[in-house]
Amino acid sequence: MKATYDTIGLRYNATRKADPYLFEQLHALLNPKKDGVYVDIGCGTGNYTHEFHKKGYSFIGIDPSKEMLLQAKARNSTIVWTMGAAKNTGLAENSVDGRSLS
Ligand SMILES: C[S@@+](CC[C@H](N)C(=O)[O-])C[C@H]1O[C@@H](n2cnc3c(N)ncnc32)[C@H](O)[C@@H]1O
Repeated sequence: MKATYDTIGLRYNATRKADPYLFEQLHALLNPKKDGVYVDIGCGTGNYTHEFHKKGYSFIGIDPSKEMLLQAKARNSTIVWTMGAAKNTGLAENSVDGRSLS
């Protein structure tokens, strides 16, 4: 089944990017550790996942849209991007240290 963002997200990054203020809020609330593994649920094209990655944090990006994940992977293929949703991430229980819903 096609996810909504497979259609409406085709040119998502033409108009969207990580907002520095929002990133700082996410960072402060999550308080990630450099040796932890975190998950960005609803990562889309990975705007915030990528910001965390640039700062040296280990993140997995999860999204139900194949199109959004393709764009995320094209930007950074070293990050793990997986298809999933908030209700079913597909990750094993207790396999990450925290999550961000960007
Ligand atoms: C507005 S975009 C935000 C993308 C990214 N977090 C950002 O800030 O650039 C919303 C994203 O949430 C995803 N999404 C929709 N329903 C979801 C669900 N049930 N669980 C996880 N992600 C979902 C969409 O596929 C889309 O990529």
